[in-house]
Amino acid sequence: MTQDEMKQAVAQEALKFVVKDTIIGVGTGSTANFFIDALATIKDDIIGTVASSVATADRLKDHGIKVFDLNDVEEISVYIDGADESDNGLNLIKGGGGALTREKIVAAVADQFVCIADESKLVDVMGDFPLPVEVIPMAANYVKNQIIKRIGGTPIIREDFVTDNGNLILDVEGLKITDPKAMETELNSIVGVVTNGLFANRGANVLLLGTPNGVRTI
Ligand code: 5RP
Repeated sequence: MTQDEMKQAVAQEALKFVVKDTIIGVGTGSTANFFIDALATIKDDIIGTVASSVATADRLKDHGIKVFDLNDVEEISVYIDGADESDNGLNLIKGGGGALTREKIVAAVADQFVCIADESKLVDVMGDFPLPVEVIPMAANYVKNQIIKRIGGTPIIREDFVTDNGNLILDVEGLKITDPKAMETELNSIVGVVTNGLFANRGANVLLLGTPNGVRTI
C-alpha cells in the first residue's frame, strides 16, 4: 500500500465520525484533501463546514460543500485533520502546511478532534519534524532569540512563505519534545508568537492511523 493509499483509507474511515445534521471542522493538507473528497459523497448529510485555511475553503466550495465563517457558528461537532507527528498520548505537531493557527482555533471549538494520518506520523518522542511557530513579522528575530534561550533547538524562518493571517513561520529544528503541554505553553508565552504547532493542551481525541494492514484506531 502506498502512503497516499493509506491517507485515502483513513480519510474514508473518518466519514464514520461525521455527525449528521451538524457543522464539522475541516483541516488542511494532503490527508485532509482526501477527506474533503470523501466528504463530498455525503455532503447532504451535514449542515456545512468551517475551514482551517483558504486552500481548504476553496476545495470544499469546489465540491459544492457549504463553508461557514467561524463567527457565524455556535458549535462544531467534530474537527477532522491530519498531522505531521503524533506521540502515543495523541499530542500532535501540526503546521507543516502553515495553517496551524486556524487549525488550532477550529480544533478548540470542536467537541471532538479526529486526527487522520499514515503510520509514518506516529513516533515515540516528537521533534524530528521541525516544530512550526507562527510569528508576527516584526517580532521574528526577537522570537527566534527567545526560542534559542528558553526552549532550545534551531529556529529557521520558512522561506517565501506568508500564512493566511499575514504572518511568518519559524520552523524549530532539533527538539526532543518530552513534555509537549509545557513546551506548547512556554512557546505561546513569548511575545510576538501567534501560536505554535504543538497540539497538546488540546490534542486529538482519536487517531486513525493508516497501515498496510488497514486502519488502526488509537
Ligand atoms: C497543515 C497541517 C497538516 O495537517 C500537516 O502538515 C499534515 O499534512 P499532510 O496530511 O499533507 O501530511 O498541519 O498545517
